[in-house]
Amino acid sequence: MSVSTPGVYVHLPWCAHRCHYCSFNVLVERSPPQAAYTQALLQQWAGIREHFPAPSTLYFGGGTPSLHPVEHIAALIKAVAPTGEVTLEANPGSTSIEKLAAWRDAGVTRLSLGLQTFSERHTRFLHRQHSAVQALELLHAVTHAGFESWSADLIFNLPGQTLEELDQDITHILASGAPHVSLYGLTAHPGTHLGKAVDAGRVRLPPDDDWAQAYGHILQRLQDAGLSRYEVSNFARSGQRGQHNQAYWRAHAYAGLGAGAHGCLPDGTRTLGLADPTAFIATPLQYASWETPNAEQRALDLLLSTLRHVDGVPLARLHDLGFTLNKRAILPHLKLGTLRERKGCISLFGKGWLIADGLTRACVRALQSSPP
Ligand SMILES: C[S@@+](CC[C@H](N)C(=O)[O-])C[C@H]1O[C@@H](n2cnc3c(N)ncnc32)[C@H](O)[C@@H]1O
Ligand code: SF4
Repeated sequence: MSVSTPGVYVHLPWCAHRCHYCSFNVLVERSPPQAAYTQALLQQWAGIREHFPAPSTLYFGGGTPSLHPVEHIAALIKAVAPTGEVTLEANPGSTSIEKLAAWRDAGVTRLSLGLQTFSERHTRFLHRQHSAVQALELLHAVTHAGFESWSADLIFNLPGQTLEELDQDITHILASGAPHVSLYGLTAHPGTHLGKAVDAGRVRLPPDDDWAQAYGHILQRLQDAGLSRYEVSNFARSGQRGQHNQAYWRAHAYAGLGAGAHGCLPDGTRTLGLADPTAFIATPLQYASWETPNAEQRALDLLLSTLRHVDGVPLARLHDLGFTLNKRAILPHLKLGTLRERKGCISLFGKGWLIADGLTRACVRALQSSPP
């Protein structure tokens, strides 16, 4: 594992309610024990920080971190003391002009805004806790808030969403001058409200062809506006890539703090926090699992984390683990131009970006031990 850019992820699990498509480890509680949880996070960090001597990035994800008291966010930033980017996920409905200023003063340098769509009917369909007008207000507010960078999350491929509606969403984002955009096709995860509705036939997601058309359309508009794709779902202006997430896609080490958070130590050990916040608060130094995977598992992890990034899978790092990709097995994709080999990496190319999941499966099948 590379130790070049260790980051710290902090999971803040509470939400004001649960959105219909959400499959994350989140809790809806009237009075969440935020102070005790923050104390537990500080203890957990104290227990693991020796593995991460100079963290470069810090990321507050959720859940809804914008519901967490600003003074707790400030205490965590002070304790972790990252040298670079500090990102916080913020949602419309729990963000105000005052909070934006307080986060900035506390040391947050980058916001990731869960805007999703600016259509009122689709906002309602997703069962968000805010209106489309509030999403638009937050988009406008952030442009004047003085952050070094920020990102807008959008969901597309919504049932019944027309290309015009999608276009409207992109137009709002581009008009704001967003430095970074994350775009996700709606997924119906099993067990979610949406998943059950799809299973029961009450909701139908658009067919794959519509997904590909919408994705192609978005890609064109964002690229025309100077936002380059650097991961299947992520687009940035020059110098505005998310440094924290980029480290995941380069399979670098990161500390995972909080309920159900995943982490990866510089020696490749995988950590998983206790999923239940009450258990986590009671025993912050305990983990649900703490395992050093074998070389094959690490090679697989490396493949899965790097293929969706523009730089692709670094063959030298695979080789260091004793593995390689069988070129004969992926030759059809190389010939078709959906995969390419460049600078010692295998990466998605051309139409390959549209079939990333299938190509991932093909590469997993092509993974084999390399001759010494
Ligand atoms: C870690 S989540 C952010 C959570 C944040 N609390 C929010 O909802 O705004 C990152 C993004 O993933 C996307 N996302 C989450 N679940 C999804 C799903 N089932 N289908 C498509 N996109 C999803 C949303 O755009 C969300 O903003
Ligand atoms: S706000 Fe985000 S994390 Fe919370 S329930 Fe909605 S999608 Fe899930």
